[in-house]
Amino acid sequence: MEPIKNIKGTQDLLPQQAWKWHYIESVIRKMSETAGYREIRTPIFESTQLFKRGIGELTDVVSKEMYTFTDRGNTSLTLRPEMTASVMRSWIQNSLGQEGGVQKLYYAGPMFRAENVQKGRLRQFHQWGIELVGSPAAAADAEVILLMIRTLESFGLTNLKLKLNSVGDENCRPVYREILKDYFRPRLAELCPVCQGRFDSNPMRILDCKNETCKSVSAEAPKITDHLNEACQTHFDLVKTFLTKANIPFEIDPFLVRGLDYYTKTAFEVISTDLGSQNAVGGGGRYDLLIEQLGGKPTPSVGFAIGIERLLILLEERNLFKDLSPKGPDLFVATFSESHQTAIFPVVQNLRLAGIRTEMELIGRSIKAQMREADRLKAAYVLVVGDQELETQTVTLKKMADGSQTPVNLSELTDFFKRLA
Ligand code: HAM
Repeated sequence: MEPIKNIKGTQDLLPQQAWKWHYIESVIRKMSETAGYREIRTPIFESTQLFKRGIGELTDVVSKEMYTFTDRGNTSLTLRPEMTASVMRSWIQNSLGQEGGVQKLYYAGPMFRAENVQKGRLRQFHQWGIELVGSPAAAADAEVILLMIRTLESFGLTNLKLKLNSVGDENCRPVYREILKDYFRPRLAELCPVCQGRFDSNPMRILDCKNETCKSVSAEAPKITDHLNEACQTHFDLVKTFLTKANIPFEIDPFLVRGLDYYTKTAFEVISTDLGSQNAVGGGGRYDLLIEQLGGKPTPSVGFAIGIERLLILLEERNLFKDLSPKGPDLFVATFSESHQTAIFPVVQNLRLAGIRTEMELIGRSIKAQMREADRLKAAYVLVVGDQELETQTVTLKKMADGSQTPVNLSELTDFFKRLA
């Protein structure tokens, strides 16, 4: 029978890799919680309407990349393509704003986008994200950006670049869009078909197109940073001041347009020169109108998400995992026969209860094969249980690193390993 394979763009997380994820997740949790963020988990699927309303119907994510299906009750559901909309839905539904002040939330989990698969671009991928809900202040933008950069740096990463822009607000952006359309109108025929389609619906996305001709047409386009209203300009200047004071280098990119429609004012991305074409490690921005769009009270907020697979690629390429591979078991218990196995079984269980990582033979292989297994598992010590050991209640512990042998009474085995720790 033909074996069934996984779906393109998804990945198995194999045991050899799992510890790398645990490591990344532990750093992420520590950094988030140290900065005062608390975890939120929301369902993996939501009503399709949430993403249409939250992210924007005309975005690539919503119009082309969502995994949408109808359930048995004929409700349209979608596997979340990102989590900001879900978190805001939950924030409104659970009245999290009632606690007062700001809500600082973080999450880590799988997201789904039906994209063309390539290195660093998957259909099921994972994000770590944070959302700071309820502050209009530039200090909030700076805090969020700082958390992102400092966390990436804490993994040992260096070749990172922070790109920063302001995409304006509901007052200055419509004006800028018209200015932009006036610029592109006479050059429309030169643009790629996708950008021609964007001209009416979302002309700012043309600035972001990777097509070489579009790029050259866009090169002289008017910049949003020259058309911000006073409120957006003041906010943007203040964000820059905060970052400068925190010694965070940044590059203003007036053509940075994020792929999700909810952003207002600050938009940012962190790219790595070590990644290929999918060079964005993470991105985010301010979204002051989203909660209102989803039916809540106006609540200014800001956040980001990073792609964990992309972070993993970087850490692997830079060899930043090298000293962190997990240790083998403390002890491998080899046995001659099933009766020896039965006799030693409680000892093995007690060692484990005491926190000593113990393996025992489960297949009934020869002693030679069990030694090879202990070696493969990188066990620190091995002991062999036979008639004599059970009779004298004394085993000989062999240290695998140097072959040295130590006789130990079975009743003192736990203490022996505890003293080593
Ligand atoms: P985003 O830029 O769409 O933002 O995604 C954030 C990060 O997720 C990207 O920079 C990238 O590292 C990773 N990512 C996105 N798509 C893929 C994919 N197909 N395969 C692998 N990695 C991917 C958001 O999702 C916003 N919710 C961020 C945010 C939070 N803004 C405000 N708060």
